[in-house]
Amino acid sequence: MSTILFDTEVDNELEMLIKKSTKTLRIGLFGLGVVGSGVWRMLETKRDEFYDRFGIDVEITGICVRDPLKERDADLPQDIITADANELLCDDSIDVIIELIGGRYEALDVIEQALRSRKHVITANKLILAHELPRLRKLADRNGVNLFYSASVCGSVPVLKALDDLRIGDKIISLQGIVNGSTNFILTSMTNYGLTYEQALAEARIKGFLEADPTLDVSGQDAAQKLSVLIYHAFGKHITPNNIITKGIECITADDVARDSKNGNVIKFIASASLDESGELIANVQPKALPRSHVFATTSDEFNALEIITRYAGPQILHGKGAGSFPTASAVTSDMVELLREQY
Ligand SMILES: NC(=O)c1ccc[n+]([C@@H]2O[C@H](COP(=O)([O-])OP(=O)(O)OC[C@H]3O[C@@H](n4cnc5c(N)ncnc54)[C@H](OP(=O)(O)O)[C@@H]3O)[C@@H](O)[C@H]2O)c1
Repeated sequence: MSTILFDTEVDNELEMLIKKSTKTLRIGLFGLGVVGSGVWRMLETKRDEFYDRFGIDVEITGICVRDPLKERDADLPQDIITADANELLCDDSIDVIIELIGGRYEALDVIEQALRSRKHVITANKLILAHELPRLRKLADRNGVNLFYSASVCGSVPVLKALDDLRIGDKIISLQGIVNGSTNFILTSMTNYGLTYEQALAEARIKGFLEADPTLDVSGQDAAQKLSVLIYHAFGKHITPNNIITKGIECITADDVARDSKNGNVIKFIASASLDESGELIANVQPKALPRSHVFATTSDEFNALEIITRYAGPQILHGKGAGSFPTASAVTSDMVELLREQY
């Protein structure tokens, strides 16, 4: 005998059924700074679309920061913010940890603990990846979870995915590129507006392209970390940044820029890697004078570019915004899409 339900009871029953059948992917977000706040906004915006496409409700259920009392934008969810990492890492209902706190050892703890607890990890932390990538990938594999890190190199530009595909389907011979937006901004300002190095550095700081301590960028260490990750995907070799010959841009003067300009050249900060005939890897990061006709000469300001030369396809160029809140958040979100495709 069927039961007759009144309208409100039907509504309640339907709601219960929908709730029961809705799968939720619960996210613990570490960091609510430049990138973290962009990720929060993008995932909130895309939530309904992801639900329609994958049938999964992607929800940020906890956010860990250093200072929970810091004043933040009013629409950020104060009630789920904590300073206690274990609240997220020990929560068995959390499926994914997005690590965006930066730095080396605290962030490494977060990533390792998350992987060991069988949580998928998405990170933008090139410093950790440059030193620990093979070990962390093994740790993820052993625990049957994914480790994604598209945002660690070239921001929004999908360079790692391109390298993965080309490495399998073709043969990568060499790569070179502009992989640090801050130093490209400085060199562009010196070239286009005749600024001195110090003036260009100050301008980059005003525009928010530089950390309080710009040493990592201008010395080339940041580019060397990114090159390490690129090399792993292009050639399957792990090489730490201290084994990459690195020369910074600190010594470049307005006179150097003017002299090169007179000769029809532009100075660009280039990270490059190739295999020699014996299969030996040659990798370096250094300023180079390139002809004005070179494709990198028109890569300006905070933009990044990567040229990949393969045996069969020849040269190919990827170009786009290499840093900033939304370009980097876009790469994190594309990792989330890949996770949804692979796992659900
Ligand atoms: N900025 C970019 O354009 C860019 C591009 C590509 C990759 N990345 C990478 O993305 C990561 C994040 O960079 P960001 O620029 O967003 O940094 P950020 O603006 O300095 O933000 C860092 C965030 O992490 C939180 N935090 C720091 N230490 C913490 C700890 N021990 N425990 C919990 N929370 C902690 C901070 O909390 P409070 O808010 O309380 O201070 C802040 O919210 C880095 O690995 C960076 O290399 C950045």
